[in-house]
Parts: sequence; structure tokens; C-alpha cells
Amino acid sequence: MSRRPRTPRRLLAIAAAAGMIVVAATAITTWVRAAGDEMPSSYAPVHITKSFEEIARVMSAAKDEVMARHMRLLEERYDLSDRPAPGPTMSRGKPLQQGPRTKLPPGMTWQKLAAMTPDEIRAKDLWPAGFYPLPHPNHMEGGMLFPSHHIEEIKRQEGRDLTRFDLDYDLPRHLLPEYPPPIYLTTRPDLGDVSQGKVVTLDNYFDLFNGILNPKQLEGLRLLVTPFPQQQFNATHDRRSLKPSRGVTCFDCHVNGHTNAATHLVGDIRPQKFRHRIDTPTLRGVNVQRLFGSQRALKTVEDFT
Ligand code: HEC
Repeated sequence: MSRRPRTPRRLLAIAAAAGMIVVAATAITTWVRAAGDEMPSSYAPVHITKSFEEIARVMSAAKDEVMARHMRLLEERYDLSDRPAPGPTMSRGKPLQQGPRTKLPPGMTWQKLAAMTPDEIRAKDLWPAGFYPLPHPNHMEGGMLFPSHHIEEIKRQEGRDLTRFDLDYDLPRHLLPEYPPPIYLTTRPDLGDVSQGKVVTLDNYFDLFNGILNPKQLEGLRLLVTPFPQQQFNATHDRRSLKPSRGVTCFDCHVNGHTNAATHLVGDIRPQKFRHRIDTPTLRGVNVQRLFGSQRALKTVEDFT
């Protein structure tokens, strides 16, 4: 292949063309950014314009204020106090909590509210705010967020850190499911709780289940406790962990096949502000379900995975 010699004029032409491309690209990014501010978009921006250190510094500095604002909202809407109900408990003894937990507007009682028509409640703005959707602690930011006792346990067992520099989990532990939760096998009901009171991780799953599950089930379980990168926990600058992260496991939310009430935003709604905060459901009983998840199009847990 012959190459044309690069005469000064040709070099100039190349430089001019490159310059035009740069100018055009700048114009497009500016235009896209300006448009993004005004128009709803299905996409989150992927071009990071600040260093990771700068992002972490600014977001860590804002964390206390973000959390204080969110905790004020919870406090206004709900009674979050520790009020264990007498009688039945969760499987391993954690007390159930009793209600009601939604606060009423000042001067209102449940009886008065029940006597009003829906139109009257709307007109006087007396709808208890606790019945509006619960926002994520930083709703426009969103993303996976884990209770601190789970973060501590995973750090202790695996040395993997699920702490976010920009946010903490919000709900008090007495309102959360028992931790660790028990595990009952549909294949071996005779064994009762097979968790041995442990949180199942990549470090202990084999010792706990070798001889109880078949090899294919052991492989499935291994995948459920293997971390995979996702948006807040990965190796790139678009993460919310201080150190690069190996990622998150299915059992970081569905701990022991149940739930630790970890939260994030639902995947199937746009734009961001319309997405709901979601509460991790238990995976107990999925063996008798025909469809999974809010998309209702996943027919097996394997599809879901
Ligand atoms: C950040 C926490 C989180 C992680 C990590 C997570 N899930 Fe979930 N999971 C949820 C939430 C929240 C829902 C409910 C959302 C919905 O219905 O769309 C859910 C729903 C499900 C359901 C449907 C349950 C039902 O009753 O319909 C299955 C099955 C499931 N997850 C399996 C998995 C598997 C497998 C993985 C790992 C690949 C995983 N999850 C990782 C939080 C999580």
C-alpha cells in the first residue's frame, strides 16, 4: 500500500479537519448536556468529567446533609421507635414490631380521617404522608444500599467492603428482618434450619452445604454468593465505594435466600424521579411462583439470574 507524502499543506488540512471535529464534538456535548437538563432522558450520563478523588470528596462532604434531610422526612412521616409486639417472633427469636407506624397530620385521628370523603381529604391535604412512596435516601442518585450490620459481616468474612462514601442505610435495625435468617430446604425439610446461624458467603457455602445439596445446586449457590460488578460497586470511577470493588452478590440483598431489606431503585421506570425505592423481597417460596419480579416476564430463577 502506497502512502501519500505528508506535505505541509496536507498536514494543515488534517489539522484543520481534526480541529473541526473537536469543535463539532464540543458543540455536541454542550448541546447534549444542555438538552439533558431540560428534556427527560432514558439514559444516565456516562461521561465522567471529574477525577474520582474529586467525586468522592464532594459526595462524602455532602453525605451528612443528605442523610439528615432524609432522616427528617422519615421522622415526619413515621413512628420508627422500637415497639416489640408480645407473643410470636421471627423464626430465630427476633421480636416482631407493632403498629400503626404512619403519623397523622397534626390534630387528626384515624377515626376523623375515616369519616371524611376522599375528595375532602384531598382538598384539605390531610392524606398521611407515610402512605406516599418511600424515597431512596438520595433518590436522584439511587443505587444499591446495604444495612450496616450486613456491611460489617461481609467485611469480616470476605474483606469485601459494601460501604458507600455518599450514603448510609436509613431504617433502624429493629424494623428489619432477623439477621442472619434461617434457611429451610424444600429438598430436605427434615433438617430444619440449615444456616447454623451463619450468613452464607463464598467463604463458607461449600462447608455448609457439601453433602446436603447436589453438585448442580452447589454450583447455583456458588453463583448466588459470587460478587459481580454493578453500578455502585465496580472497578471504574463510576462507583460509590472508596476502593475499587469486586461487586455485589445476590445474597448481599437476598441474604441466606431471604432478605436483609437492602434497597435500591426499581429498574423498569424512567425518568429517575419516577422510579420507586424497592425493598428486597425474600426468595422463600419462589419455587411455587410462575413469574418473577416487577417486570413479570421472568419465568425461572435462572432467567432472573
Ligand atoms: C440490591 C439488592 C438486590 C440484589 C443484589 C439482587 N436482588 Fe433480587 N430482588 C431485589 C429486589 C428489590 C427485588 C424486587 C424487584 C422487582 O420485583 O422487580 C428482587 C426480586 C428478585 C426476584 C423475584 C422474587 C419474586 O418473588 O418475584 C428474584 C427471583 C431475585 N430477585 C433473584 C435475584 C438473583 C438471582 C440475584 C443475583 C443475580 C439478585 N436477585 C440480586 C433486590 C436485589
